[in-house]
Amino acid sequence: MESASPLLSTQIETVAELRELYRAAEARAARLRLLSQAGGELALAEMTTVETVLQACAGRLAHFLGRGRASIAPQGPGLGLRAPGQSEGTAAAPFAFVIIDGFADLSDIPDSEDREAVRLVLELMGATASRIEREAERGRLTATLREREQRLEYVVGRLFTAQEDERRRLSHELHDGVAQTATALVRLLEGGTDRVKEPVAGPQRARLAQIARELVQEIRAIIGGLRPTLLDDLGLRAALRYLAESLETDGYTVTFDVPVGAMPLPSAVETALFRVAQEAVSNIRKHAGGPCPVTLSLRADADSGITLQIGDAGRGLSYSEPTGLGARQGMHVGREVMHERMLAIGGHLLWEASPDGVSVTAHLPQPL
Ligand SMILES: Nc1ncnc2c1ncn2[C@@H]1O[C@H](COP(=O)(O)OP(=O)(O)OP(=O)(O)O)[C@@H](O)[C@H]1O
Ligand SMILES: [Mg+2]
Repeated sequence: MESASPLLSTQIETVAELRELYRAAEARAARLRLLSQAGGELALAEMTTVETVLQACAGRLAHFLGRGRASIAPQGPGLGLRAPGQSEGTAAAPFAFVIIDGFADLSDIPDSEDREAVRLVLELMGATASRIEREAERGRLTATLREREQRLEYVVGRLFTAQEDERRRLSHELHDGVAQTATALVRLLEGGTDRVKEPVAGPQRARLAQIARELVQEIRAIIGGLRPTLLDDLGLRAALRYLAESLETDGYTVTFDVPVGAMPLPSAVETALFRVAQEAVSNIRKHAGGPCPVTLSLRADADSGITLQIGDAGRGLSYSEPTGLGARQGMHVGREVMHERMLAIGGHLLWEASPDGVSVTAHLPQPL
């Protein structure tokens, strides 16, 4: 028998080479497919889908390695899943394993390029699992924070309500007790009541009557400050109107813009807004540098919520405020309290100063 001709054997070698090249190209394509498909799925994984996605990736790995199925388990032996930065060989143990029959370890994959592709997918799976874990942790923290914030709001709200209740109680006591007694004293000194027709005689009478009248005025002022009487009796608009008028009496030009027939607001909201207006007006008297134009407006609608604005065209911050330790000697808490009052009802306060004056805006975003 003649051996194969040299030409034929060259042809056979070429076919074998071609086949080898084809296999290598196929294998490369399979590796690329594995990486791009697993990578794409993992990138889109979310908290609710991560388990299914990881399981699907494990299935792809099994298929790539010529096996039917795979599972993910907390214990090995198997192909380890690690968080980023914990590569194989570091002390940290994998947090889970992809279990595929016949592959107790990466070294069981004979082809080095296949091994590298599988290692990359395992790394991506580990990174995805730890990304989702971080997101879940962040979600838990945010929820805890929000809960704490709500509790704080509730506590501060309760505090203000309790404070207002206590003030109301005090004002009642003063009104019904001390103020009545002082008024009786004035009547007694001035005379003209049923029981005391004649004024009390004596050289000190006029002086005593004057002191008694001042006493009544002072008590009334305290009562007024303790309890927003107007607010209780007539509602927010009238109470704000009263603040505006009292400024006008002192020479300020007030533009008052609060619509009549205003919206019914919860009492805690009315109290907070009134107290903010009261402090803003008191600050205008104390710091704006004398009579100047003032605006006081209230807007409320279902879309943009409630906005109270008090602005003055006084000296604003054009003069230098006291700074340093001395500046804290007074209380200077009015602004802080305005902020807290608004926070307590779920709103916020904006305090803006310029050389042209100061503007205080209290906003409550909730629809009515
Ligand atoms: N309308 C205003 N015009 C100019 N400056 C103002 C005005 N309102 C506030 N300020 C400045 O802001 C500072 C802080 O105001 P805040 O109401 O907190 O304190 P206060 O009025 O000085 O004291 P408190 O309100 O505690 O009695 C004031 O001391 C003042 O310097
Ligand atoms: Mg103040």
